[in-house]
Amino acid sequence: MPPVHWTDQHAPKALDRILNRVMHDLSADISQHPQIWQDFTDRVQDHWRRLFSLLHELYGWQYDFFYHLEQIVFTAARSWIDRPAYLKALDAERIKQPDWFQSQTMVGGVLYVDLFSDNLARLKEHIVYFKKLGITYLHLMPLFAVPHGDNDGGYAVSDYRAINPDIGTMDELAQMAAILQKEGIDLALDFVFNHTSNEHRWARRAQAGEADFQAYYHLFDDRQLPDQYQQNLRDIFPTVRQGSFTWNEEMHKWVWTTFNSYQWDLNYSNPDVFRAMAAEMLFLANQGVTILRLDAVAFIWKRLGTACENQPEAHLIIQAFNALANIAAPALLFKSEAIVHPDEVIKYIRPDECRLSYNPTLMALLWEALATGEVKLLDYAMRHRNRIPQECTWVNYLRCHDDIGWTFDDDDARAVGIDPVGHRRFLNDFYTGKFQGSFAKGMPFQFNPNNGDLRISGTLASLAGLEQALAAENPQLIEMAVRRINLMRSMMLSMSGIPLIYLGDEWGMLNDYTYLDDPARSGDSRWVHRSRRRWEAREDLTDADTLQWRFFNEMVRLVGIRKNLPAFYNGGLEMVPSGNPHLFAFVRQNQGQRILIVNNFSDHPQSMAADLLASIGYGQGGLDLIADWQIQTEQPLDLDAYRFVWLKPVQK
Ligand code: GLC
Ligand code: GLC
Repeated sequence: MPPVHWTDQHAPKALDRILNRVMHDLSADISQHPQIWQDFTDRVQDHWRRLFSLLHELYGWQYDFFYHLEQIVFTAARSWIDRPAYLKALDAERIKQPDWFQSQTMVGGVLYVDLFSDNLARLKEHIVYFKKLGITYLHLMPLFAVPHGDNDGGYAVSDYRAINPDIGTMDELAQMAAILQKEGIDLALDFVFNHTSNEHRWARRAQAGEADFQAYYHLFDDRQLPDQYQQNLRDIFPTVRQGSFTWNEEMHKWVWTTFNSYQWDLNYSNPDVFRAMAAEMLFLANQGVTILRLDAVAFIWKRLGTACENQPEAHLIIQAFNALANIAAPALLFKSEAIVHPDEVIKYIRPDECRLSYNPTLMALLWEALATGEVKLLDYAMRHRNRIPQECTWVNYLRCHDDIGWTFDDDDARAVGIDPVGHRRFLNDFYTGKFQGSFAKGMPFQFNPNNGDLRISGTLASLAGLEQALAAENPQLIEMAVRRINLMRSMMLSMSGIPLIYLGDEWGMLNDYTYLDDPARSGDSRWVHRSRRRWEAREDLTDADTLQWRFFNEMVRLVGIRKNLPAFYNGGLEMVPSGNPHLFAFVRQNQGQRILIVNNFSDHPQSMAADLLASIGYGQGGLDLIADWQIQTEQPLDLDAYRFVWLKPVQK
């Protein structure tokens, strides 16, 4: 950042000049709505210094910096004027109560509209279902216009302002957002801002030879620079192709394509790109999107000689987007999707960057603990790595639409006596079912023969053993799988943060292998857990013995218990020693309420000693809120295979 005195001197001057010009351009609107303009200028004043210094640091060296600055403020002003009244009211509410999303009543759900309800119109019919589950934020997977055929499940966007016509229209989406908001459900959408599809208007104009649009992407005439960059880059989809550059015949140039060859990385060192994407972001916010999942945040800035992931400028860009959102759409929250090393994940989580973040470390380590039956690595990592700023929160999930990668830290593993390389191999063998005695049925994803890397695909139920148990028609194995699934869900619901349910997992959806018949999908095993299957908890359902019914109702019950516990308000998580390598124990505490959560990750009964319980305030016993059962004074806590308790202390 430039020295403070420099910013102090120049920021207000620049803003004065810019506001005069913007006011002039928007005078017709402003004279009709003077209060709206007043609100805007107040907020610009609040956030200007930050926005100005960030943009100056990123783009100040450009000869036309001031022009870009002015255009950015203009876009923000225009967008604020156009913002629907109900969203402005929501903005005001959330400015007053900035911690609203930290509440224990928050529960997320995520789905693909086309797979879940065919289209947006039909999605409305399912609001009852979402409410039954207790969902308060609904993430719709990318539903924008995309190329036909392979489009990376919607992550190759051809137009951020158009919905895939098979799914609906932008107007329908905006209506849906308003309806959901009335029902107490926030709408979350992806901001796929690292790349566009090769069919996006910008990419087409680049291909038509327009230099201004070629500058939107990273293009190269020959292999000289690509070869240099390539030395430090990792292949994200190594089974699809190797290398991060794609030859384009129309332009006779190499295009930077980190993911698939039809996903062109945007060039954020060009202020036009920042400006254009800021406009798309504010457009989405004005449709009623209040949570934006920042897709592939790690990759947005390139620097020769580095892996081109997690560069400092990536943070500056997100911070600048954040400042703009604060000005023109204050209700908007960012959720970081950085599936990278835990040290890097944490860096995106700050109030001026992303208030929400996926918790990939917890996710991966839960599966690690389930495979080994031991909690030492999970315990170590949670003690050392789970802390984030108080104004932020984790989004805890068991799996998502993507694969599971073993992103734990190697030194953490060594610290608890685990060889990281061998352990990853074991976990991959375990979850692909190769390991003798494994209960899991997962699919390998993106094996890289150069370094042995592999990730795992599969649904919660299949990975936790239900698919195999059902195939064996073995009631005992089924019972174990049910317990594992419930244990994992209890963890997701009780760790600090917002639980996020991948819809389908609430009723125990199994892997779906039909993707193998679709040539556009068969090379991408993530489709095994992106199934079209749906199940409805209908009131008239008589067959309450089905596993689906059991899973669904247990989920509803657990969510209900969570929502009633002020102790589960975000933050306030204290790890406690369980004295048993199979038991993972922690305390949640808030507003005078204290809950001890103990989880048995082993397939055998385990026990936590009475003196340990006494040392953390449970000497007089405790009441388990899950099974409504009481442990007695000075007794050890005995937990059956895969059992968990949420214990309230008993005070005598
Ligand atoms: C993110 C998405 C993933 C996609 C990639 C490229 O990691 O979650 O599904 O393939 O970005 O957009
Ligand atoms: C993301 C992640 C990677 C993930 C991929 C999509 O960028 O970094 O781990 O596998 O996208 O599958």
